[in-house]
This record gives sequence, structure tokens and C-alpha cells, in this order.
Amino acid sequence: MKITMIGTGYVGLVTGTCFAEFGHHVTCVDKLSEKIDLLLQGEIPIYEPGLDGLVAKNTQQGRLSFTTDLAEAVASAEAVFIAVGTPTSRRGDGYADLTYIYEASKEIAPFLEGYTVIVDKSTVPVGTARQVARVIKEVNPEANFDVASNPEFLREGAAINDFMRPDRVVIGVESDRAEAILRAIYQPLYLQENPIVKTSIETAELTKYAANAFLATKISFINEMALLCDAIGADVVALAKGIGMDGRIGPKFLHPGPGFGGSCFPKDTMALMRIAQENGESLRIVEAAIEANGAQKAKMVKKIRDMLGGSEAGKTIAVLGLTFKPETDDMRDSPSITIIPALLEKGAVIRAHDPQGMEEARRLLPDTIVYTENSYEACTGADAVVVMTEWNQYRALDLERLGSLMKQKIFIDLRNVYQPDLVREQGFKYAGVGRS
Ligand code: UDX
Repeated sequence: MKITMIGTGYVGLVTGTCFAEFGHHVTCVDKLSEKIDLLLQGEIPIYEPGLDGLVAKNTQQGRLSFTTDLAEAVASAEAVFIAVGTPTSRRGDGYADLTYIYEASKEIAPFLEGYTVIVDKSTVPVGTARQVARVIKEVNPEANFDVASNPEFLREGAAINDFMRPDRVVIGVESDRAEAILRAIYQPLYLQENPIVKTSIETAELTKYAANAFLATKISFINEMALLCDAIGADVVALAKGIGMDGRIGPKFLHPGPGFGGSCFPKDTMALMRIAQENGESLRIVEAAIEANGAQKAKMVKKIRDMLGGSEAGKTIAVLGLTFKPETDDMRDSPSITIIPALLEKGAVIRAHDPQGMEEARRLLPDTIVYTENSYEACTGADAVVVMTEWNQYRALDLERLGSLMKQKIFIDLRNVYQPDLVREQGFKYAGVGRS
């Protein structure tokens, strides 16, 4: 099968590479020549574990190529996937910005040859696939194509495994021909008996938002439970185990933290709320999950302040982890982007470390932050250390060494990776989230 992937971001590059690994012939196209140049030199513009090896292997074996030339890539393809960004609109109203989707649709239209399925891979509001079809027809009334929706459910940092071993593949199609092509593309997964869920196009588009909104709600729920645990002296980790072992609830996505971030949950929950409002409905649970997430970040600032005795002014805080989760360099909507400036505004001095995110953090965060080579250097002279992101390298810090480097032994574990008693035994004042 010949596939063209438009967009070489987290979704496009992982999906295109994994399709090539399945045995398909994939051409990845991006407008940004800097990105394509990097990929042609064998370099990967993003950090995603395992991706570099797979890109190298499939490029060498001739199944994966990169280009800025849309014309040739589109003409020869049986399926064209659109995997460009759909960020929150710059108007700040929560709508998804579909500029790149429509631009891509217009650009591919003149080059379509023979029957082609145009697949929306990006997360897009309900009805977008039909708009894509309209745009293509306007530009090229002769084009022979169907549109389809095939949302991704990849977690950054675990994207390749998620792609190769998905819980399900959702395809929204309205023609047998498009369905046959999509089923053929995912045929290699049949060996693992991964179910394909076939739906209407609109249902597929909505399924993606509903999945992310549900997961985000689960996180906001456990975050609120954690706050209640803090208030009444209960332990949220045990509580999460206690409810998660009920098969109807499930143990995943019940880890409290400083709030959810990343490229999906914050923007998709907002966009879903707008989709509902536009259709005369309200999603009060999703709205509450969004609001609780904002509050969670603010409460983490208060937690840090309280641990510092009521004021962060003049105090040095070591922040370990800046990205929204480990194993990614992605800083989009990371809780650190809200929490750190709030601490700086009240006069704190921030020393920070992150294994992958510091370059992007320098662009996004105030330049008064001191970035360090490692976690111990970050903690040197600090009044408190905050574990913001649960990178593996922060999970087993040498607490004795840490304590000897710090001005005050205050440990704030916003990801609950440490056992409170063990940290306290080392003479630290400890706070987790919901573990008072
Ligand atoms: C998410 C979805 O999981 C994926 O299916 C979708 O396609 C894209 O969005 P991703 O954003 O990469 O993936 O990461 P995920 O692991 O879901 O975490 C999202 C955020 O929730 C992170 O900030 C993470 O720290 C937080 N989180 C997750 C929690 O706070 N607690 C949890 O229990 C799980």
C-alpha cells in the first residue's frame, strides 16, 4: 500500500514510520524544509523513545521517505493521511484552529490521481472531514476520493508501543472502498486481534474527544480526591488502589499530580466543550474537569508556599522536571508553565533541570530561571526541591547527598513517586499530593 503522510509532528512521524514498519510504502511530507532536511540526514526533530531506530531501519529498507514535494507524493498514494497540528485557536476561545487542515486539503487537491482515501488523523471537531471533502471538491471537482476519520490514541513517550499494540483502531468511513483500504492498512494488527471499530465519520471524530475528555476527567477526579485526602489526613495512593481494583473503574489514570498537560487533554477538553455549546448542549462534567485542572495547578503553588512556611519570597526552589510528562521533550501546557511563573512572581529563585525539556523551557519560561546540568546541581543551596515530572532519573535520588547540598530539607513530591516515610527518615519535611 502506498501511503502519504502530511505533517511530520509527533503524530505524523510516528504513524508514518509505524505504517512503514508494517510493510507499507510511506512518504512523509512537511512544508518545513528544515524538518525534512533533518529527517533526510537521519535526525529526528522530536524526542520519542525508539523512533530514531525505526526511522533509520525503514528508511534504509526503502519503505520510508521524506519530502517537501507534495505533488509526487500525493499522486501516487492510495491513502493520504492528514496529520497536521490543530492547536487551540489564538483567539483564546477554546476552539481548535483548523487553518493547517484546510491548507493541507487545498494543497493536496490538485494532485490527486486515481481513487484516493483522504484520512483525517489530526484531532478535529466533528464535521471537519466533510469540510475537507468540500474544500477538495472546490479545488478539484474531478477528484475521485472519499474522506475518512482515523483518530490517534498515542501517548507521547509510549507512542510506538501504543501504535503497534493498540487497544482499538477507530475508523470512520462511509464507503466500502475507503473501508477496505483502511482495513488493509491496519491488516498487520489482525495477528494481535486488535479490534477495528468501524463507525460513521462523525462518530469517529467525536470518539477521540470523548476518550480524551473521559481520561482528563478521571485525572481531575483523582486530583480532587487527593486534595480531600490532604484535608482530612487520608492517603490517596491507597484510595486509588482501593477504587481502581474495581474492574468497572480500572487502575489506570488514577495518579494524582500537578494537573494534566500536554498537546491533547487541555486543548481537546476545551474544544469538546465548544463543540457541545455550538450544538446547543453543555458538558458540565467536562467543564468541571477543566476547571479542577486549573485549580489543581494553583493549589500546587499554595502547597509549595505552605511548605516554605507561608512565603516563597527570597527562597530558592529546585524544580526537577519541566515537561508535561516524562519521556518527551514536549512542554505544551505543562503544569510547570503555570506553577513556575507564579512562584517567580512572588519572589522565589528557581533552579531547574529536565532531561529533555530545557531548550523549549528557555523559550517559554521567564529567563530568570537557572538551568542546571543535573538534579543535584539544581538542589544545591535550595530551600526546597519540587519533583514536577516523574522522569526515572528523579525516582531514586540519593537523599543523603541531596540533603547535604540543600539549605533546608524540604521535599515536595508532586508526582507521589517517593514513599513519604523513607523521605522523612532522611530528615526531610515531605509533602506529596494527597498523602498527608
Ligand atoms: C494523551 C492520551 O493518553 C492519548 O490517548 C491521546 O491520543 C493524546 O493524549 P499524552 O498527552 O501523550 O496522551 O499523555 P498521557 O500519558 O495521557 O498524559 C497526559 C497528562 O495527564 C500528563 O500531563 C500526565 O502527567 C497526566 N496524567 C496522566 C496524570 O496526571 N495522572 C494520570 O494518572 C495519568
